[in-house]
Amino acid sequence: MNIVVGVTGGIAAYKSVQLVRLLIKAGHDVTVVPTEDALRFVGLPTWEAISRHPVTTSVHEDVARVRHVALGQSAELVIVAPATANTIAKMAAGLADDLLGTTLLATTAPVAIAPAMHTEMWRHPSTRANIATLRERGVQIIGPGDGELTGGDSGPGRMLEPEEILDAVLTRAQDLAGIRVTVSTGGTREPLDPVRYLGNRSSGRQGAALALAAAERGADVELVAAHVDEGVLPRHPRVRVRRAGTAAELGEAMRAAADSADVVVMAAAVADYRPAETAERKLTKEAGVLTRIDLVENEDIVAGLAARRRAGQTIVAFAAETPESESELLDRARRKRERKGVDLLVVNEVGWERGFESGENAVQIVGEAGVVGAASGTKRQVADAIWDAVAGFR
Ligand code: CTP
Repeated sequence: MNIVVGVTGGIAAYKSVQLVRLLIKAGHDVTVVPTEDALRFVGLPTWEAISRHPVTTSVHEDVARVRHVALGQSAELVIVAPATANTIAKMAAGLADDLLGTTLLATTAPVAIAPAMHTEMWRHPSTRANIATLRERGVQIIGPGDGELTGGDSGPGRMLEPEEILDAVLTRAQDLAGIRVTVSTGGTREPLDPVRYLGNRSSGRQGAALALAAAERGADVELVAAHVDEGVLPRHPRVRVRRAGTAAELGEAMRAAADSADVVVMAAAVADYRPAETAERKLTKEAGVLTRIDLVENEDIVAGLAARRRAGQTIVAFAAETPESESELLDRARRKRERKGVDLLVVNEVGWERGFESGENAVQIVGEAGVVGAASGTKRQVADAIWDAVAGFR
């Protein structure tokens, strides 16, 4: 494959030397396009020696061969690693004031970026908005990872390792193409009256990460979202979002979506019970002090979907458990998988301080034969491990 590797001005540029080496070792033809700033970190001779091609940052060289568009036209894949906040902003705005900018505008090839910056810059609303814009245009966002940053602080912003970037762009690229998946996410809210509900602490992050990962790996995704935290829902051309509030609404939306799905992943935290009655008007103390709430059981949505599944349809359920031991965790997972009749059950341990609002998760994936996968890390890494298990199952 003809691959253009754009390198921008961050310390992580040194890691891209290894990325280029790995790409060449894998048999690809790599042209490196650094920005001027990138050359402050790793010099031109290194890039030329490692890629075995001439390297320039400027649109004013090799003008006769219209290099500034030719590179983009002939590229089959463009990877920008590291991608600084500045370059990400330029990409979102479509600026083309150097060779990397013109190449990115001239290409119709898939584009992947590996962001690298300090946590504060990654979390800044400008960067968030720019990343969302790029994602919407189909740019693959790889990382950033969570870990130690230059200067001693740590948090999200570290560029992923070259092997991880390679894995994300090449090995897994589009392995779910042509597959239709339905993912549920978030927590249902069961109303007591117009202002109160019974709910749970689910943020919707794991289901959202699953939907985005599937879309980036080529699947067409229907995401049925109950209540989720602000800013969690992904924007991607292949993710369609439907909203559902209560368990009953979620059940209805899932049955409709599952009809045409090859894979159903039930990551939503569904209320097992709902108030037996919902008051039309706010319950007040004047009308009578409320000391108990009668509940009725909700249907088990995923068990229902599993019972009426089409041939060849894969169904994945989740279980959040608070076990006393590892063996109890797996025991519960095995029994729950069988009880629900699903193919795979993703189990994680939760607690007062674990598993909910955080961006991290640790899971084991249980199939008929026992544990078939495990992952810990960002919810995106966990999502990829789950899709790997699903891809292996199908
Ligand atoms: N689930 C569902 N419908 C429900 C409750 C749960 O589809 N009414 C799904 C969840 O989305 C999840 C899986 O079932 O994928 C496991 O949920 P969990 O609450 O752990 O299962 P329960 O059967 O309620 O078991 P427990 O008694 O341990 O809560």
